[in-house]
Amino acid sequence: MDHSRAPVLEALAAFQERRDVVYGPPGHKQGRGADPRLVELTGEGVFASDALSLNGRDDRRESQGVVSQAEDLMADAVGTRKAFFSTCGSSLSVKAAVISVAGPGEKLLISPTDWGTCADIAGTAEVCHAFGVPLIVDEAWGAHLPFHPDLPSWGTDAGADVVVTSVHKTGGAIEQSSVFHLQGDLVNPDVLKEREDLLGTTSSSALVHLTLDGWRRQVVEQGRELLGSALERAARVRSAVDGIDGLDLVGREVVRPQGAFDLDPLALTIDVRPLGISGYQAGDWLRANCHVDAGSADACRIGVRLTHADDDETERRLVESLRRLTAESGEIERQPETGLPQPGALEPRTAMTPRDAFFARAERVPIQGAVGRVVAELFSPYPPGVPVLAPGEVVDQQVVDYLTTGAAAGMLVPDAADPVDEGAARGRRVSAR
Ligand SMILES: Cc1ncc(COP(=O)(O)O)c(C=O)c1O
Repeated sequence: MDHSRAPVLEALAAFQERRDVVYGPPGHKQGRGADPRLVELTGEGVFASDALSLNGRDDRRESQGVVSQAEDLMADAVGTRKAFFSTCGSSLSVKAAVISVAGPGEKLLISPTDWGTCADIAGTAEVCHAFGVPLIVDEAWGAHLPFHPDLPSWGTDAGADVVVTSVHKTGGAIEQSSVFHLQGDLVNPDVLKEREDLLGTTSSSALVHLTLDGWRRQVVEQGRELLGSALERAARVRSAVDGIDGLDLVGREVVRPQGAFDLDPLALTIDVRPLGISGYQAGDWLRANCHVDAGSADACRIGVRLTHADDDETERRLVESLRRLTAESGEIERQPETGLPQPGALEPRTAMTPRDAFFARAERVPIQGAVGRVVAELFSPYPPGVPVLAPGEVVDQQVVDYLTTGAAAGMLVPDAADPVDEGAARGRRVSAR
């Protein structure tokens, strides 16, 4: 296929050249109605590029297949059977993929994690396929993996049937840009598309489609070179961070039996506990003092991502700021530690199906009073955004201690209805049981 083409970008250029006047959405009409104070901040291009596919970049029947041509190019770029663009992030794509194939109790594999650790996708796929079960991989953090041989292998190369990627996380597309990739014949592409239609928006973001198409062309043409220099940069940063006392950088020692299967070197995970502070404090300090925003922070670590977009200046800023953090960390106030649960405590007993618990008559109780009760809502501290409690599970004291000590230390639990705070008046949603 001709990867110098970018059908969505070409269709926008043609739309702009024709100077079409639109009598439908978006109401800002390619920026003519946008508040100039807003345009001053965002630039005109954002609005000028916001033209619908229907009666805009394509006609009312989408007969030019502008988006499907771009999807075919994306599939070809990574060697999959079919690719679908989704403009609602992998948050939606993962759900659509799951309801396409999975029954209750079936599992989804996440690889790589936010911390760059990868699972044995090939081994998992082999077991799944021996039972005729398709494997879906949430590869939200792996959109760049297909484009350089020194990166961990990516899902469909390793035998996964559906792989969901968030191109905005590690690639060059804007937020919410997600792509489903389909391989083999265990999952029906029509069913996958239908489920995405069921959950997705009817107003796909033009900017998402444009940036997905633009990224595919860029990475096919220059990915090897761009990611090659990102990998060299990551190796330099890794060796500099390894030389800083008080910082414990996660390296390939985690790649071992019973550990990670592989590690994405572009994901730098730095344990700051030797400095006597938490990851939350390190992240807050870097932001306040160095104007450096870490990608993530938890009780123990900060996560820093390098991509093809980094350059010598961002490399220098990062290493210098980490040196300053260690030099000045003695001035950061000491806090009580977060009570980290034992791994087993994160697999609580399930007393009801998630659906039954979610829709059950529920009451709010203080968090300590929730121990032993069945929870009706999700608790997913971010990062990594993986639930420590899901509807239907029985609340465990260790998990409560983790959430309350974590909240006191700065943990973010974005999905809980009430603040995760021991003193919070309204408490948790637990089912009537
Ligand atoms: C493993 C994983 N899957 C899916 C998502 C959701 O992706 P998106 O932000 O594209 O909706 C995230 C977000 O951080 C994630 O970490």
